[in-house]
Amino acid sequence: MIGRLNHVAIAVPDIGAASATYRDILGAHVGAPFAQAEHGVTVVFIELPNTKIELLEPLGANSPILKFLEKNPNGGIHHLCYEVEDIIAASDRLKSKGARVLGDGNPKIGAHGKPVLFLHPKDLNGTLIELEQI
Ligand code: CO
Repeated sequence: MIGRLNHVAIAVPDIGAASATYRDILGAHVGAPFAQAEHGVTVVFIELPNTKIELLEPLGANSPILKFLEKNPNGGIHHLCYEVEDIIAASDRLKSKGARVLGDGNPKIGAHGKPVLFLHPKDLNGTLIELEQI
C-alpha cells in the first residue's frame, strides 16, 4: 500500500538556526521559511535527491508540535510521510486492521495541499506516520 518516502519532518526550536545547520554544515539546498498558520507551524523545505526534509517550528500558542518540543527541547524527528495512491482506500484498510487514524479519522488537506492523515504512533513502533495521497 505505501509507496515512496515523501518527507521526514523534524521539529526544531529555531528554524533559522536549523536552516543554517542544513545549509552550512550539511551543504543542502534549503528553501525559505514560510508560515502555515492553519497547521500551526513555520516550515522550511529541504530538497534532497530522493526525498525531502521538512523543518517545523511552532507557530502560535496552539501549535501541534509544542508538546513534542517540550519533551525534546533540542528538536527531533517528528514524523515520516509515506505516499499512497488512494487515501480513502488506505484509511479503510488501516481501520480494518485496527490501526488508529488520528483526529476524526478522515483525511485533511496537508501542508502540500494534498489529502493526508496521521496514524497513532503506538500502533506503528513509536513513530508518528503521515500518509499523503499523491
Ligand atoms: Co508531514
